[in-house]
Amino acid sequence: MSGDSPKGRMTYGNYLKLEDLLSLQGGYNEDKSSLSNHEMHFIVVHQAFELWFKQVNIELECAISLLDTEEVEEKQIPVVVSHLERCSEIFRLLASQWKVMETLSPQDFLAFRDRLGTSSGFESWQLRSIETLLGLKSEQRIGGMDPMEHNRKLHSEGKLSDSVMDNLNRISSGPSLNDVLMRWLSRTPVNGFSGNEKVMREFVENHLSSMKKHGEEVISHIVKIGHGNEDKVRPRINAGIASARDFLLPNNEVSFARAGLLFIESYRELPLLSWPRRMIDSVVDMEEAMLLFRSHHVRMVERMIGRRMGTGGSSGVDYLDKTLSYRIFTDLWAVRTMLVKRDSITDPTNPEFYGYVSSQ
Ligand code: HEM
Repeated sequence: MSGDSPKGRMTYGNYLKLEDLLSLQGGYNEDKSSLSNHEMHFIVVHQAFELWFKQVNIELECAISLLDTEEVEEKQIPVVVSHLERCSEIFRLLASQWKVMETLSPQDFLAFRDRLGTSSGFESWQLRSIETLLGLKSEQRIGGMDPMEHNRKLHSEGKLSDSVMDNLNRISSGPSLNDVLMRWLSRTPVNGFSGNEKVMREFVENHLSSMKKHGEEVISHIVKIGHGNEDKVRPRINAGIASARDFLLPNNEVSFARAGLLFIESYRELPLLSWPRRMIDSVVDMEEAMLLFRSHHVRMVERMIGRRMGTGGSSGVDYLDKTLSYRIFTDLWAVRTMLVKRDSITDPTNPEFYGYVSSQ
């Protein structure tokens, strides 16, 4: 076998295609057209980000394909969670990587900034595919910037290859993580029954009653301690209950996915729901990590270029600050607003269905 001979021996460099990889930054100090150490650093940081974006894309595609089925096998849930946890850790790593970028001074950046022309991280198609895989929709985008429109333009100008564009189109037309997650949640057994309208509605109405009861307690407590008067507090409490009703019963139809989500979040002690709970936690964790990654990028940008326009043509920091309001898994965030402490909600019926044995 060739692998046994010294010639066929696998080396670290061969396995990682190290020479190819290290030639992709251009030369440093070799001739007059070579890069300064600052520009080399700028390129290395960007390329490192893009490598991690590649991995996040792969993890997300794996997670989506595992969830994109009518019946997700229980043993697959921990696998999905592990894909998502890896994404979170990558985003956390990337959020701290901006610190390395900040070792570049604004003046050192300005020295080569003109060479970037109109190129910008805005054109990172890998970040766009991550956003699309997660479920960010074009209509949710703000700041008058539509990266997919821009990508199509680049493609028509021959600046983006067919294979990149095909991949973006494939991802845009497929289900997102948010789509498959909501479908999976809609099958959650609530009080022992899956997809049962009557049981779901009863659970939702019970929950709304608990919110109301708890709201009354909050009002009398606030009034009692002199922290506010009833006229001011009651409308806020009532508005919270009304929006919970709209959320759980849109157009007076029970949303199975949202009811399932509320059930999982309300009864965190039920053993059968521990992996579904971890799944939800891992999605929230991932979105939070991505948000912090975006947020640290903006602060780094502000430090680097102040309030000037971006090379990609946006308003710069103002535009980037607006992107911090993006939320993809809106239902997972919204349900938190309507949770009621465990002692104030009724116990689930059929606890044994969830492997829970009461001590009483
Ligand atoms: C000196 C360092 C950097 C500066 C001054 C900077 C500045 C900016 C600005 C102003 C924008 C808004 C779009 C525009 O008009 O250009 C932007 C977007 C972006 N940048 Fe950076 N950036 C820097 C480094 C990086 C690095 C290292 C990455 C890693 C890949 C990156 C990724 C992105 C991404 C993905 C966007 C698009 C954000 C969105 O539209 O949601 N940036 N950057």
